[in-house]
Amino acid sequence: GGSKEPRKAGFSFEGPFGTFDQAQLQRGYKVYREVCSACHSMELMSFRTLGEKGGPFYDPKAASPADNRFVRALAAEATINDIDTEIGEPMTRPGTPADKFPSPYPNRIAAAAANGGAAPPDLSVMAKARHDGANYIYSLLSGYVDPPAGLTVNPGQYYNPYMAGDMTPFWTGDHDAVPKGGFIAMPPVLNPDQVTFDDGTAATVDQMAKDVAAFIAWSSEPKATERKQAGMGVLAFLAIFTGLTYASYRKIWKNVG
Ligand code: HEM
Repeated sequence: GGSKEPRKAGFSFEGPFGTFDQAQLQRGYKVYREVCSACHSMELMSFRTLGEKGGPFYDPKAASPADNRFVRALAAEATINDIDTEIGEPMTRPGTPADKFPSPYPNRIAAAAANGGAAPPDLSVMAKARHDGANYIYSLLSGYVDPPAGLTVNPGQYYNPYMAGDMTPFWTGDHDAVPKGGFIAMPPVLNPDQVTFDDGTAATVDQMAKDVAAFIAWSSEPKATERKQAGMGVLAFLAIFTGLTYASYRKIWKNVG
């Protein structure tokens, strides 16, 4: 039983000094938008968050995230379900920076019905919801392999060595060599060149998986960079304050005793 430990993607944002790579976040957003958002919601994300400091489309020249021209354009590409308040009827309209990302299904039941009974989970905080989340998402998406001979895969399911599960009941091979991993209702969704990156980066499966994992890691904690910078500021302050305190202690007690 058990699953394979995620492979390390070598993300720039790991560690106390780590920061997100803005170009990577932009590529990751594109993968989410063009691939994942067909099935997965990100209900906690609004378009203007994309333009916040540290975010994929942050622009220091913009007066505010809602005023950011990239954010406005990306929001306007989305179709938002709303109510026409004049006639009290449902309507659709282009998105604005204040809108949340639209969800692919109206509710979880519809989501499950469209995916063979397994609702695709919301991805807003997925990097926090799984152990070593960013590396896990990267590994899962780029880690599909053919099921080993001796493993019976149920219809509508796919084998993935990084997915949690226990393959023992489905394994006809050697009892001491049960394959690691689990079954997942998500098919392998990434194929080479599935998206065209605006910065010219080659869209290999590995690259797209890495970039979308980085984007989800950022969305799971959009304030991570600010939090780390504040922490560094506190440490710098403490270091200086300690030095000053010690210097004044030396001065005050200089001629005593
Ligand atoms: C599950 C990510 C695209 C359908 C998941 C999970 C993640 C994920 C992290 C959770 C796995 C777990 O439980 O540990 C992504 C990303 C995508 C993507 C980043 C884009 C690159 C899609 C697409 C579909 C889809 C396009 C539909 C065709 C599902 C379903 C599940 C799932 C049905 C639930 C699987 C289960 O519980 O067995 N996805 N996904 N995903 N995804 Fe996706």
